Amino acid sequence: MKDRYRVVVVGMGKRGMHHASAFQANPRFEIAGICDKDESRLDAASAKLGVTAKSTDARELAGSIRPDVFCFCTLPNLRMPMIRIGVECGAQLIAMEKPVALTSSEGMQVRDLLAASGVKAVVSHQHRYGAHYRKAHEVIASGALGKIHTVYGTASGWMMHMLSHLIDYTRWFNAEAEAEWVMAQASGRGKLTDVHPSPDYIAGVVHYANGVHGVYECGAGAPDVPEVDYWWRKARMGAQGPDGFAEVLTGNGWRAVTRSGAWSGEGCMNYDLDMPPYIQQMADWLDDPSRVHECNFDSAYKGFEIMMAFCRSVANGGQIALPLTSGADEIELLRSSVPDRKAVLAMAASAKEYAS
Ligand SMILES: NC(=O)c1ccc[n+]([C@@H]2O[C@H](COP(=O)([O-])OP(=O)(O)OC[C@H]3O[C@@H](n4cnc5c(N)ncnc54)[C@H](O)[C@@H]3O)[C@@H](O)[C@H]2O)c1
Repeated sequence: MKDRYRVVVVGMGKRGMHHASAFQANPRFEIAGICDKDESRLDAASAKLGVTAKSTDARELAGSIRPDVFCFCTLPNLRMPMIRIGVECGAQLIAMEKPVALTSSEGMQVRDLLAASGVKAVVSHQHRYGAHYRKAHEVIASGALGKIHTVYGTASGWMMHMLSHLIDYTRWFNAEAEAEWVMAQASGRGKLTDVHPSPDYIAGVVHYANGVHGVYECGAGAPDVPEVDYWWRKARMGAQGPDGFAEVLTGNGWRAVTRSGAWSGEGCMNYDLDMPPYIQQMADWLDDPSRVHECNFDSAYKGFEIMMAFCRSVANGGQIALPLTSGADEIELLRSSVPDRKAVLAMAASAKEYAS
């Protein structure tokens, strides 16, 4: 156990800066170096963070610093090369952003390299630290809803941004039960060329081994969450049992109805509140291998696999059994199968994102 773990952060965009600031604010970590391929962004980050060890070359920086934690927050097109750098520089833990990858082929390579190297890894599904997410989870885990039969999640944002979150938190609500099969449909090609490539709308069902069904909708056809104003936070996740339901709205609190009454409370997704516990759990896991991080890679990979199976169901039809046994390029599968028809919107507020 070290007093302080040394960290390299790669990608000084929005999420890289969130990570760097949160590592800096935690006395168990120090930023040993930062990297961005964009020099002006790197210089601005260096001035803001007061970190002088910097480079536009992640491999060179990580190789010279040999950090305890290699954190990268690049866009989703860059995963395997960064994981390789993290493993090769000798890091004990790699912290990455969601989604795990853009295709199951790459996701499986990432999984296999991490497993072979023994390096710990975490994926940033940090919304779960929000007080409203914790409260919904607490009610569900208390048994007050009876035996859960359904979990659900909807979000106005598109798949590669949001589905990873919806599945991760509802798997948590469902005690991380294994998924056995999925079936899904999709429409709208506008976002297939986005940096988070996705159908404009995807909807699917997951059958979990404990009998629970997960029902998910992401994108243009997802329902409004009228209690939330901010479009990106129009996301609803919950669980139902015979005795009631509990749910969280990303941008506006939680609520539960059980046999004993109805409750609700406040809460809004907030990076400043969600990042510190996410970062602290990295120190806890590095200190003590039995204190496994809630956002550990193995768990995130299972959610990722569900998302990739949705894409395969869209492309190939029918139910897709899990776990996936061989890799594929799901984005190419979507590009060759999603019909060339505009997605039909569920709310006018989505027109600005799904116009094409
Ligand atoms: N967990 C969350 O709540 C959440 C929220 C938003 C975004 N994200 C995810 O975070 C990731 C990053 O998103 P963002 O919004 O911060 O993106 P961004 O575009 O703001 O930042 C990415 C940065 O990576 C840099 N970069 C790209 N390639 C590089 C390379 N080879 N070497 C060094 N630097 C490189 C870019 O120059 C850029 O500064 C995405 O995967 C996204 O899905 C997660």
